Amino acid sequence: MARVIAVCNQKGGVGKTTTAMNLAAYLAIYGRRVLLIDFDPQFNATSGLGVTYAPDETIYHALLGGQAHERVIKRTYLANLELTPASPDLAGALVELVNLPEREWYLHRFVKKVGDWYDFVLIDLGPSLNLLTVNGLLAADEVLIPVQCEYYSLEGLSQLLESIELIKNNLGHEIRSVSALITMYDKREKLSREIAREVRRRFPYKVYEAEIPRSVSLAEAPSYKKPIMLYAPQSPGAIAYEALAQEILGMVEERVMGTHPPMRPVEKKLASMQKEASRIVESAMQEEAARADFEAPPFELPLDAPYPFDILR
Ligand SMILES: Nc1ncnc2c1ncn2[C@@H]1O[C@H](COP(=O)(O)OP(=O)(O)OP(=O)(O)O)[C@@H](O)[C@H]1O
Ligand SMILES: [Mg+2]
Repeated sequence: MARVIAVCNQKGGVGKTTTAMNLAAYLAIYGRRVLLIDFDPQFNATSGLGVTYAPDETIYHALLGGQAHERVIKRTYLANLELTPASPDLAGALVELVNLPEREWYLHRFVKKVGDWYDFVLIDLGPSLNLLTVNGLLAADEVLIPVQCEYYSLEGLSQLLESIELIKNNLGHEIRSVSALITMYDKREKLSREIAREVRRRFPYKVYEAEIPRSVSLAEAPSYKKPIMLYAPQSPGAIAYEALAQEILGMVEERVMGTHPPMRPVEKKLASMQKEASRIVESAMQEEAARADFEAPPFELPLDAPYPFDILR
């Protein structure tokens, strides 16, 4: 069974999707079989990886539309990385789930079914603490919380940690680890350094050694439908996400102790993938351009009711 990691923070724009996509890609490059589940109706991870899929081949359709699980697992241009797309339909799941029995456990059941095919399942959650978030947390063994190096970033963290505790204690789900990842760090800025220090001092659980710098390349890569390693493999953001993957794989300590074999020639492997990647990205972009003729109405999250955590107390 895979290690299942939910990337979660109810604050928006802190780097959840960037982390989920790039961590997933590095774990895949290190030879692990990885499934990334986009579980956010904004579907940023889906569009950032340039995957093609039919309108009824998303996580919503697997959970509530009777779609076969295999049909919603899509190959990406990295051999070991697969993605389950999301779409705005997922916002509808909030309404539909509310009155269903065991409404908190739908994603858990999906992950249980497909988890054996992978070493890692990563779940990219949206910026809320609603029923979808609870489904994401109940499907996971580990929670990774990106914390942006900005003034208000620590606000709301205690609410998130408390919600995780309530889920652990009252829904009887084992979450083995909760950890924080410092994102958008700028070591030249005093505020950024102070917040990073504060997170390390106050966060009650593990804080990853890797710190993700603020890096333009990380923001640009999704518009080219690529993870950072294919867009700017030498950039500081790429190096930081690779370091995070190594930490999660337990390679860091081993390397310090000199027992780990020399690092794998990631670059060589990438070069051979580049050609195939460009082909797939090009066809995804062409498809997107064709779709642009039927312009979709602007997407707004209609219902984002907070999960009533009170019922768990
Ligand atoms: N380290 C970074 N340096 C620079 N830009 C970044 C970095 N990480 C993320 N970004 C950019 O910041 C924006 C928000 O990042 P991202 O989408 O990963 O956050 P999120 O937490 O998933 O947002 P949401 O809550 O809306 O799902 C994006 O435009 C992204 O490209
Ligand atoms: Mg996101």
